[in-house]
Parts: sequence; C-alpha cells; structure tokens
Amino acid sequence: MPDLVPVGDLAAHVGETVRVGGWLTHLRKKGRIAFAVVRDGSGVVQCVAVRNRVEERVFDAVSALTVETSMIVTGEVREDARSPGGVELGIADIEIVGASPDYPISPKEHGVAFLQEHRHLWLRSSRQIAALRLRHEIEAAIMEFLHDAGFVRFDTPILTPCAAEGTSNLFSTEYFDLGEAYLAQTGQLYVEAGMMALGRVYCFGPTFRAEKSNTRRHLTEFWMVEPEAAFLDHAGNLKLQEEMLSHVVERCVDRRRPDLELLGRDIAELERVKPPFPRITYDEALRIVCDEAPDDGSVAPLTWGEDLGAPHEVLVSEQFDRPVFVEKYPVAIKAFYMQPDPERPDVALCSDLLAPGFGEIVGGSQRIHDEDLLRQRLEEHGLPVESYRWYLDLRRYGSVPHSGFGLGIERTVLWISGLQHVREAIPFPRMLYRMYP
Ligand code: 4AD
Ligand code: MG
Repeated sequence: MPDLVPVGDLAAHVGETVRVGGWLTHLRKKGRIAFAVVRDGSGVVQCVAVRNRVEERVFDAVSALTVETSMIVTGEVREDARSPGGVELGIADIEIVGASPDYPISPKEHGVAFLQEHRHLWLRSSRQIAALRLRHEIEAAIMEFLHDAGFVRFDTPILTPCAAEGTSNLFSTEYFDLGEAYLAQTGQLYVEAGMMALGRVYCFGPTFRAEKSNTRRHLTEFWMVEPEAAFLDHAGNLKLQEEMLSHVVERCVDRRRPDLELLGRDIAELERVKPPFPRITYDEALRIVCDEAPDDGSVAPLTWGEDLGAPHEVLVSEQFDRPVFVEKYPVAIKAFYMQPDPERPDVALCSDLLAPGFGEIVGGSQRIHDEDLLRQRLEEHGLPVESYRWYLDLRRYGSVPHSGFGLGIERTVLWISGLQHVREAIPFPRMLYRMYP
C-alpha cells in the first residue's frame, strides 16, 4: 500500500491527513475520547478519536479495538510535544484489517516459560522490538566498519567435514555416502583460505555448539562475525577489534538512543567505549581473581592453566570502565590453531575481549602459519590430520602471518542493550531445553 506513511516519518507530515497501517498496542478511553496507541515497526503513535467529532461508526470501531488488531487509520498529523515522536494522529477514519481476539500476552507479568512458548508473539513487545532493532543496528554497523576497512564478505559453509573449536560440542548429521557432516562451530578455517585469496575477509553467519550449558550466555545456534586479515599480527588484531567495537557502540548510541533508553541502558557507560581498551595478560587476570574475589566464596580461586569461567570474567571485567582484553592464555586451554608467543611458548598470541560486568564477547588470535607446527598441534589435539589436509595446504603455498577474531552477535547485543538473557538477543533462540517455536 504505497500511500501509507511510516509512523517514524509522521513528524515530517504535520498538518497533513495521512494513512497509517499498524497494530494496536493498547487502548485508553477517557469520557468522550478514545486513545489508540498504534505500532508499525518504525515507531509508535497515539491516535485520538473524539465522540461526535467523528462518525459514530468510526468512534465505535476505535473504542472496540483489542490488542494487536491490525488496522489502517486515516487522520491528521498534529504536533504534540508530550508524545514520543512529537506528534499524534487525529482519527478521521479507521479500517480494521485483521481482528485479534484474546491476545495471549497482556501488560501483566508473564513467566519466562510462557513468554518463550509464545516467542512468535512476544517479539511484538516494546522491549523485544527495541532489542531486535539494536541487533540490526549492530549487524549493520559491523558490516559498515568492515566494508570501509577493506574487508570482503566471504560466506563460509555450514555443513563441514571437521571440527575447529574442539570435538566435544559438535552437532553431526548423516551426509549421504560421505559419512558424518558437522554443523559449523566457526567459519574461521574457511575464512583463512579466503584471506589468502582476498587479503582481508570476514564471514557472518550462524554457528553451532552442542554445548550442554544452560546459562544466560549460551545458545546452541548463534551468529558470529569473523574477520581474518593477512599480514596482521596479534597487536594489530587487538587494535582492529577495539576500533570495530567502538564504531558499533558509537553508532548504536547515535542512532538508537530511544531503544537504549527504553531498555534502561546506562548510556554513559557506552559513551566511554573508546579505544584504546586496556590490555591485561591471563596471568594478571588470575591475580585480579585472587585479589578481588568476594569473601562469600562465590568466585572460586584459579590456578595457572585453568580457564576463566563466567564469574571470573565478570569479576575481572568489573575492574575496568570499558571493555578489557585478556591476552596470552595458556596454549593448553586454547584451540589448536593459535600461534604460541615466541617469547614464551606456553602461552598463545590470543585474546578474549571482556565487556564490563558481562564477560567475553570476542575471542581472537594470531594463527599458526608454520606447517610443521600446525601438524604437530593437530596431532596433540587428537584431530585427524588427513581431514585438515586443505587447511595445512594454506601453510604450504605462500603462508603468511595472519590473525582474526570472532564476535558473538547475541552476546554483543546482550551487553549493548543491557538485557539479562541471551534468549532475548535473537529472534528464535535455540537452547539446551528449547527448540519451539
Ligand atoms: O571464542 P570462540 O569459540 O572463538 C571462535 O570460534 C573462533 N574461531 C573465532 C575466530 O577467531 N574467528 O567464539 C567467539 C565468540 C565468543 O566470544 C562469544 O561471543 C560467541 O562467539 N560464542 C557464543 N555465543 C552464544 N552462545 C554460545 N554457545 C557461544 N559460544 C561462543
Ligand atoms: Mg572464546
């Protein structure tokens, strides 16, 4: 319907009579006046009908509206400083498009299980809309940054013949006569091949981890953006990450402030997200855990060689006012492809980027570019070297030092939006105990 004006554009039409298509979020009646709040995805507008000033049929239809009824409203755009978009619509006519009797989600509190069961409808709630708009802004900002930095999008396969991030969390499926295929845990190994062709590339797609982790940060299907660059060392990799994340946060604050406000996000914290981010080593992180752990024993002490868990990451990240890099983890607890530090081969040239009060949102590393060392690492990890023949080839023909990272979209959405659970950061979350709807 080409003549419909998006609610978000109404402010440019003050004084005009326009048609708006949308859904009723709620209805208020006060004497002779009915206020219908209408949402169309681009914004929310209050539409006002006054008895005796509109046809009776129109007033009756407005007064009888139920939540999520879809409609086309015709009316005059009027300036109204108290309204969210600065305007309201004086209703002249209304056409009901789709009725919505007994909409199951009401303003009263619903349990999480109920909302998840109705995710297809829960998506229409104002907080969910704000979160999904932020997700879109984050994805667009990432692609904008990478495009401007000379990265080429390189789409990697989802069905893969081998593991890249450990063998304990693979989803597998029968693949005709060729044996087992695995759902990609990462696109990294393939972007490394693309990087050798195009110099700077990234993949952006769904990744899968059959992790039996039922936490507020874990999905079994999540989206990841993975840039990879030739001739980029560990230090350059950190710089790229902080620049990209700062750009993303700045664009969200710039363009989606109303969504951040609706979600109650502390925007001042986001405004501090500017490079350079502090860098600490894994060793220093262990010291922080030891020194700052609360007396109630809620954060277990760590010995060298153990990985940081979620509570450790939160504790460490809370010591800083912006995201912090923890670099140089023990080689033994990281993926097989990470380059050891030449000055100290028991640690890797890798980093996790921890967001304040939240924990890891990005993981990255310089990759091993020497064929023999890579082969040795595959063997140490008990991986079938034959399946990685193609990956070893990348080190055989014109190998170069290179680095990259993976940013988890949902965790980034969660941190930027200030939401509490990753199930609200993706339209249809896939989790240990939920696949419906
Ligand atoms: O640290 P990870 O496992 O790194 C990789 O997969 C590398 N191959 C990336 C690379 O260097 N190209 O995962 C990267 C990010 C994490 O920092 C986290 O944000 C997210 O992916 N992530 C998850 N998000 C939701 N649910 C899960 N189960 C996740 N596992 C990882
Ligand atoms: Mg990681």
